[in-house]
Amino acid sequence: MLYFERKHLDERKEIIKSIPSSSKSGVWMKPFLKWAGGKSRLVPKISHMLPKADRLVEPFAGSCAVFLGLNYPKNLISDTNQDLISIYQWLQTDAEAFIQQCGALFLPENNTLERYIELRSEFNNGKMGSLRRSILFIYLNRHCFNGLCRYNKKGKFNVPYGKMRAPYFPKRELIGFASKAKMAEFRHDDFRNVMKSAVPGDVIYVDPPYAPLSATASFDNYAAGGFSPKDQEDLAHLCFESAARGVPVLLSNHDTLFTRRLYDGSRITELEVTRSISATGHKRGTASEILVLFKKGLRRSPQLSLFPFFAA
Ligand SMILES: C[S@@+](CC[C@H](N)C(=O)[O-])C[C@H]1O[C@@H](n2cnc3c(N)ncnc32)[C@H](O)[C@@H]1O
Repeated sequence: MLYFERKHLDERKEIIKSIPSSSKSGVWMKPFLKWAGGKSRLVPKISHMLPKADRLVEPFAGSCAVFLGLNYPKNLISDTNQDLISIYQWLQTDAEAFIQQCGALFLPENNTLERYIELRSEFNNGKMGSLRRSILFIYLNRHCFNGLCRYNKKGKFNVPYGKMRAPYFPKRELIGFASKAKMAEFRHDDFRNVMKSAVPGDVIYVDPPYAPLSATASFDNYAAGGFSPKDQEDLAHLCFESAARGVPVLLSNHDTLFTRRLYDGSRITELEVTRSISATGHKRGTASEILVLFKKGLRRSPQLSLFPFFAA
């Protein structure tokens, strides 16, 4: 047997050995992806506030920090980002091969601007299968600027090279995810469909792209990010409706006049959160955020249209 074939098999065996048959309760697992708005640091607070349930429903999964940090026996994990969901499904069905092939891209010779552009072009040319695309996404996430995920209007990933000295290969985190994935169903869907499919016995944690901090913050940019004020309104409506059907919801968002009006009638807890990712990388500060609990028996205040409020 050739040396590199044996090495390949040894690596696979090592990965198979380290994937536990199920995740141990109480073990805090960290996401393997860098993700804007990731909630790792809020997990203890969220865990404290989320009611007990048979199943956790997460319609805005992102890096899955909350699913990984909590221990519900069943989980419905969804997001509109197809790249994310494909990765999660590969880790659920063929983790050993997937992790081994991801690791093969984390080499010093692949950490140059030229190789980054080459691999990003391969990702963007769309000719490869879902497995290769998922593997390239992990490489891009750890080699791009600040771990950002941004696509242009044509759906091409356009984040520049990150110039990191030695990008970390999150092997332990990938292995942890693979064990936890056994307790989850992954879905590529809009939050509206996912929330409507929840039933009593479920609890929902919603973490949407945040509302802008002020009415003067670029509303256009915000809507271009894919989540409009109408989406925020639909979400608020579904939170009240789910609670009325006996499905409690916990929601994260910025603390603004707009969000206060949207959630009027719910139970709001204020938080001071240090942001981990910002547009400029060096500007890390604090922003006011809220955790909002919707439970049966809430009375929603009558809502006026919120659009004129924003147009101001
Ligand atoms: C703030 S992030 C969630 C972060 C996540 N809680 C974490 O800890 O990593 C918001 C997520 O919402 C997803 N998203 C945006 N619009 C959506 C929609 N209409 N339905 C479902 N997911 C959506 C984005 O792809 C993104 O992953």
